[in-house]
Amino acid sequence: MKDLAGKHIVLGLTGGIACYKAAELCRSLIKEGATVQVVMTEAAQQFITPVTMQALSNRAVALSQWDARETNNMAHINLSREADAIVIAPCSADFMARLVHGRADDLLSLLCLARPLDKVPLLLAPAMNREMWVHPATRRNVAQLKADGATVLDVGTGDQACGETGDGRMLEPQELVEDLVAFFQPKLLAGHHVLVTAGPTYEAIDPVRGITNLSSGKMGFAVARAAREAGARVTLVAGPVHLPTPRGVQRIDVKSAAEMLAVTVAAAVDATVFVATAAVADWRPAQTAGQKIKKDGSGQPPTLEFVENPDILATVAQSPCARTAELFCVGFAAESEDLLANAQAKRLRKGVPLLVGNIGPATFGQDDNALLLVRADGVESMSRAPKLELARKLIAACAHQISE
Ligand code: C5P
Repeated sequence: MKDLAGKHIVLGLTGGIACYKAAELCRSLIKEGATVQVVMTEAAQQFITPVTMQALSNRAVALSQWDARETNNMAHINLSREADAIVIAPCSADFMARLVHGRADDLLSLLCLARPLDKVPLLLAPAMNREMWVHPATRRNVAQLKADGATVLDVGTGDQACGETGDGRMLEPQELVEDLVAFFQPKLLAGHHVLVTAGPTYEAIDPVRGITNLSSGKMGFAVARAAREAGARVTLVAGPVHLPTPRGVQRIDVKSAAEMLAVTVAAAVDATVFVATAAVADWRPAQTAGQKIKKDGSGQPPTLEFVENPDILATVAQSPCARTAELFCVGFAAESEDLLANAQAKRLRKGVPLLVGNIGPATFGQDDNALLLVRADGVESMSRAPKLELARKLIAACAHQISE
């Protein structure tokens, strides 16, 4: 199921060079299953034409409150009542000032004012020059808009159309879609700090070689994203993987199990949920050679000695806060056979209230997975689905178990 299926979005464009990104945003919203009604101010039409937005949204763009084609002549009422959310992207400094004052002399500000506050959320994606963004007037307006119930999204940082560099760029279309998808998710873990380990670890043999495994980190990154969507503060401790950081998640990159342990234990101090998805190497070379180990011509391979790595999950699960149930710990088990028995045994061995079993070869590197949730009082299976969908269900299951 697409993340915005069934959602009707009123996409408002105001005057700003970032209007060029609104075209891509419109496409992406539709790709995620939303229907999109575009509304443009006069200033927006200086930057991009309604023709482009009509072609992309497959609907006539609403431009005027005096459009006689609306049979009741109340475009502002009709548009605002149909919407599941109103998203203004780009939202100019001037448009924010207009919203603050409840101005209603053009269709877009009029429909924002006319929206039922308790039913139709208003999300603003600001876009302006960095000096405008930090101006006390804009700061005041942002604070007032938040107080009035609008969601003011972040701005990006970087090169600006004016040639300056700083804060105030509009977020990229994909970032805006991710924020909107997150906005619609239930806030089951609001106020929580969720700590996630993800990916493989890399245990160095010498400066150029090491031991690792095929874990892609996808499940852990999906759990981190789902936890963030559920309203939690999220720390993601990631082994070496090639994945983008989910929006709003604090990511700490590590290589070895020893590093992962140190970072995780430090972050666990104020965490309330710990989900260990990392495929931590069981052993590491007893010594890491300072220089590259070379062939010596004898035909004899070098002998490597190994020592066992610390068990990060078990260490955290034995910590005082986990033992007093202030920290809810979740383990993963990648098995190749006899999933239920192995997962049940592992739950007891690790001392965690929830152990999630999956079949290793069927999940490593894949975009989907199937899970078996093992608790003290029973099991629950989640059939094969995209990892993000399963991660959302897992987060909901954690929230439910915590509240019991
Ligand atoms: O013992 P096993 O590796 O099968 O346990 C898997 C679970 O324990 C996963 O949740 C994994 O992230 C965690 N683990 C860990 N540190 C280790 C080994 C496993 O945190 N050294």
